[in-house]
Amino acid sequence: MLAILVWAIEGMDLNMGNGRITNHPILDFKEGRPVRFTFDGKELEGYEGEPIAAALHASGVRVLRESPELKRPRGFFCAIGNCSSCLMTVDGRPNVRICVEKLREGMNVTTQKGKGVLLADN
Ligand code: FES
Repeated sequence: MLAILVWAIEGMDLNMGNGRITNHPILDFKEGRPVRFTFDGKELEGYEGEPIAAALHASGVRVLRESPELKRPRGFFCAIGNCSSCLMTVDGRPNVRICVEKLREGMNVTTQKGKGVLLADN
């Protein structure tokens, strides 16, 4: 087991400056074009097509929401869309799992409080 872990770490190139893995021994990461989006009113940059959570992580965002009852900070848990640890509001749509939602130019991402609120169509 330890040998596998050492092999995996030796084969990876971690870009510690932004938290992205840029070279992996068995996976290939294609980078999309750089795009801008907003997170809680702050303008950030990521790569088109990467998960929103990856772009936030690369920008230093580690707290994705707070627990509904005790209001404790929550970060990544499954990172594959199976839990609710990363729910945010994206372009006015609440309860978006940002670990599997792809980043697009101009997205407006906001931290969601509680269960989120659906806005009525105008
Ligand atoms: S971290 Fe589990 S659904 Fe996103």
